[in-house]
Amino acid sequence: TERTFIAVKPDGVQRGIFPEVLRRFSQKGFKLVAIKLTYAKEELLKEHYADLTSKPFFPSLLSYMTSGPVLATVWEGKDVVKQGRALLGATNPLQSAPGTIRGDFALDMGRNIIHGSDSVENANKEIALWFKKEELVDYKAEMYGWIYE
Ligand code: GTP
Ligand code: MG
Repeated sequence: TERTFIAVKPDGVQRGIFPEVLRRFSQKGFKLVAIKLTYAKEELLKEHYADLTSKPFFPSLLSYMTSGPVLATVWEGKDVVKQGRALLGATNPLQSAPGTIRGDFALDMGRNIIHGSDSVENANKEIALWFKKEELVDYKAEMYGWIYE
């Protein structure tokens, strides 16, 4: 089954938006398989955002992402990578639709609350980067009979 990496960024943690994120993913029908509150190290973020290290905004992205703890999570379910991106909304809150997490809670691209993997390949890389194998919890989601045909 498909998995994705979703992280509530330091602003989302400090503003108390993280329960809303967990609620939305959970009520959509996704299964939580890993969760931890953690400070992201600079070396980890350089790998996580490897495609952005040469961007002019990278230093401010680094200081944003290390400004407080991040709530790192892994979710599992049908098309969870694409569905997760849809729940997040567009990167720039000016473009993110109301009803999405960024659309409902963010105004600034540099304080956009949440990260979500953008492809299955990146999801698997990010999960391996942020979590140890034994931190991914295996259990039967009893709700599945009510979610999937
Ligand atoms: P993530 O889920 O965080 O990876 O966002 P994304 O996939 O929607 O966007 P992308 O990976 O391109 O950028 C990663 C993060 O860098 C964004 O979520 C923003 O926080 C930040 N970022 C991207 N572009 C800009 C920019 O032009 N200016 C600023 N200040 N921040 C940016
Ligand atoms: Mg991205």
